[in-house]
Amino acid sequence: METVKRTKIIDLLNKTIGFNKKVCVKGWVRTRRGNKHVAFIALNDGSTIHSIQIVVDITHFGEDFLKPITTGACICVNGLLVESQGKGQTAEIQAEEIEIYGTADPAVYPLQKKGHSLEFLREIAYLRPRTNTFGAIFRIRHHLAYAIHEYFNKQGFFYFHTPVITASDAEGAGSMFQVTTLDMINSPKTEEGKIDYSQDFFGSSTNLTVSGQLEGELGAMALGGIYTFGPTFRAENSNTPRHLAEFWMIEPEIAFFDINDNMDLAEDFLKYIISYAMNHCKDDIDFLNKMYDNELIDRLNFVINNKFVRLTYTEGVEILEKSGKKFEYPVYWGADLQSEHERYLVEDHFKCPVILTDYPKEIKSFYMKQNEDGKTVRGMDVLFPRIGEIIGGSEREADYQKLLNRVKELHMSLDSLWWYLDTRKFGTAPHAGFGLGFERLVLFITGMTNIRDVIPFPRTPKNALF
Ligand code: 4AD
Ligand code: MG
Repeated sequence: METVKRTKIIDLLNKTIGFNKKVCVKGWVRTRRGNKHVAFIALNDGSTIHSIQIVVDITHFGEDFLKPITTGACICVNGLLVESQGKGQTAEIQAEEIEIYGTADPAVYPLQKKGHSLEFLREIAYLRPRTNTFGAIFRIRHHLAYAIHEYFNKQGFFYFHTPVITASDAEGAGSMFQVTTLDMINSPKTEEGKIDYSQDFFGSSTNLTVSGQLEGELGAMALGGIYTFGPTFRAENSNTPRHLAEFWMIEPEIAFFDINDNMDLAEDFLKYIISYAMNHCKDDIDFLNKMYDNELIDRLNFVINNKFVRLTYTEGVEILEKSGKKFEYPVYWGADLQSEHERYLVEDHFKCPVILTDYPKEIKSFYMKQNEDGKTVRGMDVLFPRIGEIIGGSEREADYQKLLNRVKELHMSLDSLWWYLDTRKFGTAPHAGFGLGFERLVLFITGMTNIRDVIPFPRTPKNALF
């Protein structure tokens, strides 16, 4: 039925096509209302948060024809693009021909026009991209991913693809998903009665990666500056609004950077991405600001316009101890900071994003550069309002002997880390990097409160639906 080429609704509303021209639109019905003579269909095709109004003359089409055009149905419309009479919209279409691609029986289609709770929408995650809210979130998510590549490309960093399946535990935390093709019931055994991974697909025990950093460091030791951007997996049983079992991480790694260069990069990078979103996702951010969080835009502007506060972990703990506030988890030097502590520093004390550095070595990963004091390492966490930790990073231990000692102290497997240690033997160099949790960034920029709502198909403990 398409008599002229289909135009996206965003282009129709942006007036790239003059009025009184014949156009073709295709999309999903958001609502249909009207009276005996005329029907108004709000049609959305996902290209923008805005729907276009289709004006349908019922005497021309007949009531029976219109009946199946209900919320969720997909239609193709040919008609005349005219200036809209109604307020709040620029253009509408006077329908001349309509083809129904697919109906959505109102008796069973779960997305009716009334506002659904985010919890309910999570249960129907296969349909929720069709709502205004999730359309906005996933468009913003796309633009952020694009901006991240743009930023690093402009800085001369190379996109370096690190493996998803690995034989090493990058964070040394042990919360990994195993990858195996062995028969779980009749697995081959070694003489000591353990599972014989030499007979497994890769000839060794393997896992889904928890971080691309270790391989990223190999890239930085050759290309100078690289970044990774890929899926990451953690089998930690953290059922919180900020943890996913499968999330996307961006990890730049840069030769000849120290921790101060690293902090400068992290701050500049975050500000660039947030500004990009403000400039390229205005309609969607306005919508979320209006519907969910009326301080969202102020908060984004605040982060762009203010210098992040930088202090050491030790100074941070002193502030927390002196605060007189009762925390759920006690705070003392050596304690791993919880989200409530991080948010106190950011939201109550400094009222500004914070970068904490020089953490006790016991609570950080083996690869961080060891300070002279023998107690702390050159780690850095960037803490954001409402989120807590958004970035974790460090200057890396570049000295072979110091790194080897730490690996041994922690009883880590040299069999799976020898190649990493070799970088410190062959042309070692000072270097640093960090990891940004992509969904935490999307969470911050959309003003949503649960990380399950900023990734299309969340994976969390006991849930891998769709
Ligand atoms: O602090 P993390 O564990 O650091 C690393 O993985 C380092 N290898 C990064 C590096 O230096 N290259 O994780 C980095 C970030 C966190 O700050 C957080 O934003 C995010 O990844 N993150 C998670 N996001 C969602 N769900 C989870 N379970 C996450 N775990 C970490
Ligand atoms: Mg961390």
